[in-house]
Amino acid sequence: MSIIESIKQRKSVRTYTSQPLSKELKDKIENFIRQVQAPFGVEARIRFLHTGTDAERVKFGTYGFISGASDYLALTYEEAPLAEEGGAYLFEQVILFCTGLGLGTCWLGGSFSRKDFKRQVQLNPNERLRIVSPVGYESGRKRLLEFLQGAEKHHISRKPFGTLFFDKNFAVPLTEEKAGIYAQPLEMVRIAPSANNSQSWRVVLAEEGVLHFYKTTSLGGFSATDMGIALCHFEQTCKELGIKGYFKMMNGLENKQGKYCISWISE
Ligand SMILES: Cc1cc2nc3c(=O)[nH]c(=O)nc-3n(C[C@H](O)[C@H](O)[C@H](O)COP(=O)(O)O)c2cc1C
Repeated sequence: MSIIESIKQRKSVRTYTSQPLSKELKDKIENFIRQVQAPFGVEARIRFLHTGTDAERVKFGTYGFISGASDYLALTYEEAPLAEEGGAYLFEQVILFCTGLGLGTCWLGGSFSRKDFKRQVQLNPNERLRIVSPVGYESGRKRLLEFLQGAEKHHISRKPFGTLFFDKNFAVPLTEEKAGIYAQPLEMVRIAPSANNSQSWRVVLAEEGVLHFYKTTSLGGFSATDMGIALCHFEQTCKELGIKGYFKMMNGLENKQGKYCISWISE
């Protein structure tokens, strides 16, 4: 499946069939994890965790948010500048790979028992465990909680393009027409998952081929993680469309409308 298709297909899946992942799929995901690296020189790792057999069951508490999952992915990273963004970028690549395999996933930043997961992960002294996700076969049976969270609705209820992306400065909304070749990469940012669906990223198209990414505040303090996901969607879509460029941190771009993170410069 193409990246663009995987981004469009992905949604939070909270109810699973209890069936453990097949060995073939596990191997594919583990191989993919070995191949990908976090950007910005960030030291991040993704671990595969299994609940095990009934005889030796490992408990992964999710406070009732997730049901039936037998396998989990856990993201850990070493504290450093852009570590949270880089780790999230890496994790989203794996999430999209799993989507391409037809599997369900759900980013979890709050609703999981850190104690349960840390027991299985064994962190190095500088390492942080911030995010986990179940990975498995989606159950056709939706639970009441899932309906109440409006999981399906969330996926389409994103803010309009012109309220997230701006033309030269924050006063002028960007149109898809004005965005040109960047319309689709930005659309893939728009539909990205974010904590509480807060969509805490803003992008200013400053001049041709130069885009500045800003973080706004998000509920629960996940704006850097949300940004990492957005940067992943943006760059991976550019790659797929053959748009060349790179991320660079620039000076003097602070703004009251958001906390400056990084810029994309086209080549
Ligand atoms: C960083 C992050 C943390 C999240 N934490 C949780 C969580 O703790 N519990 C949960 O049920 N969903 C969590 N989500 C899922 C979001 O609620 C979901 O991505 C958003 O509502 C958009 O819906 P969608 O993923 O179906 O497109 C999280 C998502 C992100 C990106």
